[in-house]
Amino acid sequence: MPFQRLTWPVRTERLLVRPLGADDIPAVFAIRSRPAVARWMTACPDDYDEFTRAFSEPARTDTTLVMLHGGALVGDLYLAVSDAWGQHEVAAGTKRTQAEIGWCVDPSYAGQGFASEGAAELLRLCFDGLGLRRATAAAFAANTASIRVMEKIGMTIEGRGRRDCLHRDLGWVDGVTAAVLADEWRAGRPDPKPR
Ligand SMILES: CC(C)(COP(=O)(O)OP(=O)(O)OC[C@H]1O[C@@H](n2cnc3c(N)ncnc32)[C@H](O)[C@@H]1OP(=O)(O)O)[C@@H](O)C(=O)NCCC(=O)NCCS
Repeated sequence: MPFQRLTWPVRTERLLVRPLGADDIPAVFAIRSRPAVARWMTACPDDYDEFTRAFSEPARTDTTLVMLHGGALVGDLYLAVSDAWGQHEVAAGTKRTQAEIGWCVDPSYAGQGFASEGAAELLRLCFDGLGLRRATAAAFAANTASIRVMEKIGMTIEGRGRRDCLHRDLGWVDGVTAAVLADEWRAGRPDPKPR
């Protein structure tokens, strides 16, 4: 459980970031059930009880952080540590060396740089906090705002899968993957603030 290895909460210039708690679930549901948010997310939640059950399980509580600004929950962040791929003889060296990260912001607070600020903090947690070597992110290619967040925090777009993702409304569409390595991040942390 990587979050237990870190000290909470953490603060950025404008955000307080900490692991999801049971009291946060109504606000997270309210954000994630908004059509503009659900459009690009893995799931479109419509049943509060089902959502509460899912977000009370370790699969979510071990991977979900919330972002608070002035006491208001403005979005959530995803940080899931995993093993890299490696050949059998060196497989031990691949264990828990990378993470997938993600973000979601209340549309009422969009366009203020909160996703970029939270995502930049995710990288700090991945590399300084957890000592990981690589962080990845994925999005539908049409999700330009999310891809911009990846670029702003210093991730490199590594691939565009041709119609490799099935979207609930758009059908088979292109997906984008991005990554940043710990040493790249150390060499030049980009400023996540708007240009
Ligand atoms: C994607 C999302 C997290 C961005 O949140 P945000 O707090 O508005 O993002 P930021 O303010 O940090 O800025 C993101 C960048 O994208 C740009 N952007 C925002 N909306 C955009 C759009 N519709 N088209 C193109 N660029 C856009 C912003 O201008 C900014 O770039 P800039 O600083 O160079 O101007 C938010 O829109 C969201 O939650 N969307 C729905 C859920 C989602 O897509 N999650 C990610 C799944 S992969």
